Amino acid sequence: MRYAVIREGKALIMIPDPGQAIAPHGFEPAWLPVFYNPRMVFNRDVSVVALSIYVEKIAPHKPVRGVDALTGTGVRAVRYLLESSSELVMHANDIDPAAVAVAGRNIELNGLQERATLHRRDARSLLYELPRSEPILFVDIDPFGSPAPFAHAALRAAGHRGLAAFTATDLAVLGGAKRAAARRKYWATVVKAPEHREIGLRVLLGYAARVAASSDKSVRPLLAYYADHYYRVFLLVERGARKADKMLEENVGYAFYCPEKGLTGLEPKCGDPTRIGPLWTGPLMDVSFARDMLQAARGAFSYLQAGHRLLRLLSTLIEEASTCQRCIYYSLPSLASKARIGRLPKIIRVIDRLRSIGYPAARTHFDPMGVRSPAPPEEVIDALGAA
Ligand SMILES: C[S@@+](CC[C@H](N)C(=O)[O-])C[C@H]1O[C@@H](n2cnc3c(N)ncnc32)[C@H](O)[C@@H]1O
Repeated sequence: MRYAVIREGKALIMIPDPGQAIAPHGFEPAWLPVFYNPRMVFNRDVSVVALSIYVEKIAPHKPVRGVDALTGTGVRAVRYLLESSSELVMHANDIDPAAVAVAGRNIELNGLQERATLHRRDARSLLYELPRSEPILFVDIDPFGSPAPFAHAALRAAGHRGLAAFTATDLAVLGGAKRAAARRKYWATVVKAPEHREIGLRVLLGYAARVAASSDKSVRPLLAYYADHYYRVFLLVERGARKADKMLEENVGYAFYCPEKGLTGLEPKCGDPTRIGPLWTGPLMDVSFARDMLQAARGAFSYLQAGHRLLRLLSTLIEEASTCQRCIYYSLPSLASKARIGRLPKIIRVIDRLRSIGYPAARTHFDPMGVRSPAPPEEVIDALGAA
């Protein structure tokens, strides 16, 4: 295997030479002998900051023990140790011996042997068998495709007030383009609606909530977002059957799609809507957690490669959450086409118009042509026509 050494965040990372993975359509990370995707730097940057805020503000025990269960080159484990907190120790694991060898070299390269333990196991058996005497407070699941096969092991392993972070890249499944797979993987009925990006994230969260509940645990999203070709969620995991019941009652339910009106809501907005779910109907984030992340991103983490993008994402997420935590955004092209409004006005004018008649309204990170607002659809259609 040929190698290159790169810098990512504060880490030096040895990766397989990208020249070995040039497919007809360009660089293809899955072709590398050990997976490393430079497009996921943003995902890792966000994760480094989120874990740092978690350790600082929430972690009930110190030191915090974490598991990077699908570590690949070890880049996440190394970055968490170097950048998130000096109070952290990590298990790094991969099933592939080549990945474990590279991850071991990267742990050494960054002088982290004292704080990292390396494993070559199936992630699930490792998570089920880690000794209870040393509680795990952070579990990162960054798989190929769906995190569903690892969710039970991860949520069971995460201790009380622990943090579970999942990446999902199977957006077509979660967003309703592959209905049978959505039923199989996420136990949900999903049809493709105009707001499929938010629906998909809520389906993922709803699944995690139900899996957690099966171990008498509850989850609460501290941050959940869509970017590029993936979802990333950070869940605060808590023990307690009663809390789990309350979570299911208050935050897991259905969305309702009205094809003839071109819109989806958490309440039916037409006579005979198509039900989507079960999915997460509760808040997608904890605003104060995101504010702490924003402040850290402006300060201690201002060195991050994707720093500007992180500031933009966090600001948009905070604005969205402050506008409406229990609603689904409006896809303006879909609404306008059903309402036979020919020319779409500038989004900002629709937002201003809604605000001027007393409704909170904001852009959404899910869709550049979307608006989040608790306003009823008729008001949004009026605003579209008037703006
Ligand atoms: C998407 S890659 C991980 C990328 C890495 N987290 C990063 O940020 O660069 C997924 C990894 O999971 C490993 N893997 C797949 N199935 C596994 C399993 N059942 N248990 C442990 N590792 C597994 C693969 O070998 C691969 O290295």
